[in-house]
Parts: sequence; structure tokens; C-alpha cells
Amino acid sequence: MSRISYVNGHYVPHCNASVHIEDRGYQFSDGVYEVIAVHKGNLIDMGGHMLRLTRSLEELEIEWPASLKAIDIIIHEVIRRNRIKDGIIYIQITRGVAPRDHVFPDHHNSAFVVTAKRFPSFDFNSTNKGINIITTPETRWQRRDIKSVSLLANCLAKEKARRAGCYEAWFVEDDGMITEGTTSNSWIVTAKGELVTREASNNILNGITRLSIMKVAKENNIKFSERAFSLEEAKSAKEAFISSTTSFVRPVLKIDNKRVGDGKVGHLSAKLLSYYSNHMKAQIT
Ligand code: PDD
Repeated sequence: MSRISYVNGHYVPHCNASVHIEDRGYQFSDGVYEVIAVHKGNLIDMGGHMLRLTRSLEELEIEWPASLKAIDIIIHEVIRRNRIKDGIIYIQITRGVAPRDHVFPDHHNSAFVVTAKRFPSFDFNSTNKGINIITTPETRWQRRDIKSVSLLANCLAKEKARRAGCYEAWFVEDDGMITEGTTSNSWIVTAKGELVTREASNNILNGITRLSIMKVAKENNIKFSERAFSLEEAKSAKEAFISSTTSFVRPVLKIDNKRVGDGKVGHLSAKLLSYYSNHMKAQIT
């Protein structure tokens, strides 16, 4: 069965799905996106993703390409046509096609793309295995709270991680504080047992998985702090993990080749993954 994608009003075979060369997303990275997990045919945390998409569009003054209702119908149709049970939906909205000029075009002409991809079904044991990460200097722009398609610095850092045989790279600012990963948020359990993740600000993308973990932590009386933490603190932490739509909760075993805690999957990390997996299960209809 061939993949079907949605491009500006049409459902087309994925291999023929294309946009114009003067789309501002292509020329200026002038666009935003969302990645939403599909679990047993259900979109996970759809409300949170649509809220963040709204915010990203507003911050960049990009118009919605269609009504929220129409967008919802298109997303479900892409899931249906691709028969996705487990996987992701990718949504991208750009300022659209206009003669190349840095200033915004006079007329709104947002371009809208939806693609879907199958993934193996979520499995607790394979997710709970643990990963190694590296750290790298923070080189991104100052509006990381916007889920912009301008991801070159993220790509360079992720490639650096891959070449080091690692799953992820954490960005470290000049003052030694960690912001987040290239495609995920960063968490530690300090030597004193404090669960910490960086507070939401312009410095990080406020992950929907991050928000859901905070929700399940609260529900289970697990205290956490939203504050900046340093690389030094991370290296002496008991546990560390990452969170994202595609990685869920993934324990970190080594940072820059140094073991975190005893180098095994942390107790609290595994617990939060289990609570997060229940949070996904609760959305299956
Ligand atoms: N990445 N920080 C960054 C820089 C990200 O790119 C992502 C997500 C996150 C976690 O956000 P969420 O929990 O909403 O997925 C944090 C997606 C999955 C991606 O670019 O593929």
C-alpha cells in the first residue's frame, strides 16, 4: 500500500507530494510544525499539540490555512488513508508561496502539509532500555519556544550525536546550563533526589510530553522542580532521562561517556515511563 500525504488541498501519493520552490518554508524556514503520536489508532495529546501549534502560528503571524475543524478532519483522513495504527502524524504550516523577499507578502497564502508514518507499537521494555547522550554548545536562536521548521542547529547536533554512537545531544549554554535535547526535553534526578526539568521559557520548546509527565507526576504525588540545571549537576545526578512524542520517556545511562548514577535505568525514570504509558492507554477509545 503506498503512502498518501496531504498537500495544499489534495491527497496525493507520498512519492509525488511536493511544494513550490518559492514556498517560504523552503527558502526561509518560515513555517511551523507539530509531530503527534498515534497510538492504537488514537492521536495522543491532540489538544496540547493544537494549542502549541496555535501559539507558534500566532508568534510568527502566520494565518491558519483552514479552520481547526477542517484541519482535524484532514489529519484523521490522512491516518485513515495510510491505515496508521501506531506511528506519527507530521503537520507543517508555512507562510506559503511568494516571490522571494524577506518581508512578509501582502496576502496570506499559508501552505499546509500533513504526512503520516508507521512506527512499531509502543513497547515498555524496549523504550525502558536506556540511551547514551553527548553534550554540545547551544547554538540555536533565542525563540526555541516556537516549534519552527528552522532546525539546522538541531540537525548538526543530532548528527554529532549519531557519529559519537549516541541517541541524543543536550545543548549547553555558555553559563554551563542545559537547555534541552535536539529533539527532546531534558530531565534529571539530582544526587539529592530532586526531579528537575528546565522551566518553560523562550529557551526551550515546551514539550507536550514534558507537560504530560508533569501531569502524571502530580497525580502520583511525585514532586518536581522546573528550573535550569547545569551540566555538572547532570553528570553527578542519580538519574537522567529525555522526553518527546517519539521517544516517550527514555532513560539516559551515560552523558559524554560518563555513567549517570550506577549506569542503569533509574527507578524514577522507569516509574514515570510506566505512568506515561498509562496516560497514553487512557486515550485509547
Ligand atoms: N521533537 N525539544 C525539541 C527541540 C524538540 O524538537 C521536541 C520534539 C521536544 C519535545 O516535544 P514533544 O514532547 O512535544 O514532542 C523538545 C519532535 C518529536 C520532532 O522534531 O520530531
